[in-house]
Formats: sequence, structure tokens, C-alpha cells
Amino acid sequence: MADTDSSGISFTAYYTSEVWRQHGLSATAFDTREGKALYWLGRPVELFAEYILGVSNDVMLLQRHLIIDDVVRRAIREEGVTQIVEIACGLSPRGTRFCAEFQELHYLEADLPGMAAHKQQLLVQNGLLDNRHRVCSINILEENTEEALNTVFRRELDTSRKTLVITEGLINYFDLPTISGFWKRLAQTLKAFPTGYYITDLYPDFKWHPVTRFVDSFIHGLAFATRSRVSLHFRTEQAIREGFRSCGFRQTAVHIPESYYGVLPIPVQRLSSLVRVIENRV
Ligand SMILES: C[S@@+](CC[C@H](N)C(=O)[O-])C[C@H]1O[C@@H](n2cnc3c(N)ncnc32)[C@H](O)[C@@H]1O
Repeated sequence: MADTDSSGISFTAYYTSEVWRQHGLSATAFDTREGKALYWLGRPVELFAEYILGVSNDVMLLQRHLIIDDVVRRAIREEGVTQIVEIACGLSPRGTRFCAEFQELHYLEADLPGMAAHKQQLLVQNGLLDNRHRVCSINILEENTEEALNTVFRRELDTSRKTLVITEGLINYFDLPTISGFWKRLAQTLKAFPTGYYITDLYPDFKWHPVTRFVDSFIHGLAFATRSRVSLHFRTEQAIREGFRSCGFRQTAVHIPESYYGVLPIPVQRLSSLVRVIENRV
């Protein structure tokens, strides 16, 4: 049987969450001991990368988060999306922020059972859940189980609503064949809704980038620490589009941080950006 336990990745969600909190993007509900410890432990690597190499993990985390917010906000306002599922939500504050901003929105946060239980506990303690905003368990690697994508969607979602799925900080922890299996299942499942969107961040395999060697070392360290197959996917924008098309998505747009400099309040990096936000439709 295939190994579907990828819970070694979960701790990284605390780091990201603390970065958002330090930059005023999160809520007090997500102020955790784990987040603060990881954040301060990671400072030396972050400062070395930022001041010596000119790239910053924190900048990438903020760029991807704010660009995803912008793309999702447009899908709600301009395309009438009223149902969102944030898969691998970790301690993302997006569900809380968007439910406060959009009164018609239904928001389902989903993650592996351990992380989903912690998120649920933090949200309940702070009075932040209601019938529009819920948390559930999911495992993107499973098929035909209680936590498999199609079981969760069938049980939890309203198929008459225009629906948007988000993954952030998830897909590069898996090799391409594994994550493509999830993308195919997702594209197929989204076809049951009047409109189906899938928004994700993605770190491409940019061999031309001046910090490739540092990135490769970082990836090896991260793979070891999370017991996962951290991988960069696709070398060009065209390969990204073709990759998603081959998984069943009808339309793919690639958002580049540089296009948002001076447009959104995202931090600017002096070297070329390393992260992309992908907007797919079925
Ligand atoms: C790097 S964190 C990202 C969390 C959050 N989206 C963020 O940007 O901070 C990766 C998340 O993926 C979740 N995860 C790992 N394997 C998963 C799987 N097989 N199915 C669903 N979620 C998974 C982890 O529990 C963790 O919350």
C-alpha cells in the first residue's frame, strides 16, 4: 500500500504562520509557542540569505500569500465565487479574514487530522468558527477513504456554489508524479461545481537563477527535516500551463510577483522572484 503519511511536513506551518503574524497579517488566535520558536531559530539562515545572497524566504512567503489573497478576492468579487476550500490550511488566517470581509462566503479549512484538530481548537477558543466557517480533515494522497478529496468534497460542500480551492505551501513537498495525481483528482472533482477554480503557489525549477545552489541546499535540508520529497516543478511558464492542462484544467494563468510591485503592498526583492501563483479553472 502507498505511504500516505506526510505529517512530517506539518511543523513548517507554524513557521509561516509566525511570519504572517510578525508582518501584521494574522490574528492573535494564531500566536503559538511553536511558531515563535521556529521563527527565531530560522533567523540566522533568513538573515544570511537576505543580506548576503539577496533573496529572502520571508519575502517569498509574504509575496505568495498576498498575491493569492488578491486573486481569490477578484474571483469572489468578479466571478461570484461563494465557496472556498483551503487545503493544507495550516494556521493560515485567510479563512478568518475572508469570512469577516465577505458575508456570503462559505469557507472550509482542511488539513491532516493533527493540524486540523489544532486549528479547530485555536479557532473555537477565540470564537472564530460558525456555520459558514468550518475545519475538517483531509489527506490529498488518499483515495476512497474518509479523508480522501472526493469523499470530503461530497460530504462537506454544496455543489450548487461556484467553488475555489486553495493550496499554499503544499505542492513542492511532493514529487511531480505524486502531486499530479492530486491535481488530476482535484480537476475531476471540481467539474461537479458550476465553476471550479484552483489557486496555488508554485516554486519552479529555475536553473538560471543566481541563487540556484543555495536553493538546492535549502531544499535538501527541508526534505530531510520534513521527511518529504521536496521538488521544484516546471522550468518555464509554458511548461507550467501544459502541466496543469495535462491534469485536466482548462485555463491556467501564471502570476509573477514583479507584476505586483507597486500594485499590491508586497515586499520587493532585488533579485528575480522565485515563487509563482497559479490560477486554474476547470
Ligand atoms: C508548509 S505548511 C503550509 C501551511 C499553510 N498553507 C501555509 O502556507 O503556511 C504545509 C501544510 O500541508 C499539510 N499537509 C501535509 N501533507 C498533507 C496531505 N497529505 N494532505 C493535506 N495536507 C497536508 C501540513 O499539515 C501543513 O499544514
